[in-house]
Amino acid sequence: MSAAASPAPVLQFDERVANVVREGLGSRPKRLPAWLFYDCAGSKLFEAITKLPEYYLTRTERGIFLRASEQILERASNGRRLRIAELGAGSAEKTRLLLKAAVERQGTVVYEPVDVSASALDGAKRRIEREIPAVTVAPRVMDYTDGDDRRFHLGAMDEDESRIVLYIGSSIGNFEPHQAARLLRRVRAGLEIGDAMLLGVDLVKDEATLVAAYDDAQGVTAAFNRNVLVRLNRELDADFDAEAFAHRAVWNKAASRMEMHLVSRIAQQANVGALDFAVEFAAGESIHTENSYKYRPGQAEALLKETGFRAEATWTDPRGWFAVCLGRASSP
Ligand code: AVI
Repeated sequence: MSAAASPAPVLQFDERVANVVREGLGSRPKRLPAWLFYDCAGSKLFEAITKLPEYYLTRTERGIFLRASEQILERASNGRRLRIAELGAGSAEKTRLLLKAAVERQGTVVYEPVDVSASALDGAKRRIEREIPAVTVAPRVMDYTDGDDRRFHLGAMDEDESRIVLYIGSSIGNFEPHQAARLLRRVRAGLEIGDAMLLGVDLVKDEATLVAAYDDAQGVTAAFNRNVLVRLNRELDADFDAEAFAHRAVWNKAASRMEMHLVSRIAQQANVGALDFAVEFAAGESIHTENSYKYRPGQAEALLKETGFRAEATWTDPRGWFAVCLGRASSP
């Protein structure tokens, strides 16, 4: 075929990404949603973050599971066999501790990871069934974060079973309080009375510890933050110079959240080719890329109560840095 006859390349892009970029970079202050971090490179960078000395969250929650998995399952089960569902397929390492404890208790267990990514779920199924053959993985492809109130539907259960839904790793902290409540209400609507919800939340602590966790010495979190611009360059034919943006992590005490920003080092313009959209930045202007809410003791329990659960028990670490709270689906 001659060059003249070749069809012009058509750039395929994800409408959901395009919409949040148009909206977020067109508004003041500029913002982008945190879910944009998790392309392939971003997911790998997040994995690396969880192993950093400054990022105490994963390690601390894991310590709670190491000590309390049996107790958690005992409390959750109410004398029945448990099915373990999980929002997200990413926290498998900590989940494994609970799955192994469930296998010890009841011989076999059905694990239902819920994620928007079918490939992440396939990977989790292969890994977990190979490593713990007494676990049957029943993945559910679903976007539970999409902000609508559609029924959250997990599979049917046997009569002698009840379910525990895990939402661990402080993932709830990346939602605004009203969105977090909405998400939990939606999950509650898909549960039977007596089912359980296990919520992992990061707690308020001294500012230096919080800031270091989001601004590590090796710059992995900075790379994670800037990767969002690299993603837009690739997916939307944009021309951001990622290094022309500084990573900034700040503690917003009034809102009780860590914030991440990308701050333009200079006055500059970037073009988003696929959207035919130019973005102007003043020197020092920021794109707000993430909120990570930190809870005060008792707040996660209040959130559970407000969304249709009875707060039954809380486990924490010796420093009181992280909390894992068990809620029981109660009658409205
Ligand atoms: C996934 N989420 C709970 C992490 C957090 O701590 O908010 C994402 C993260 N952002 C920066 N470092 C880690």
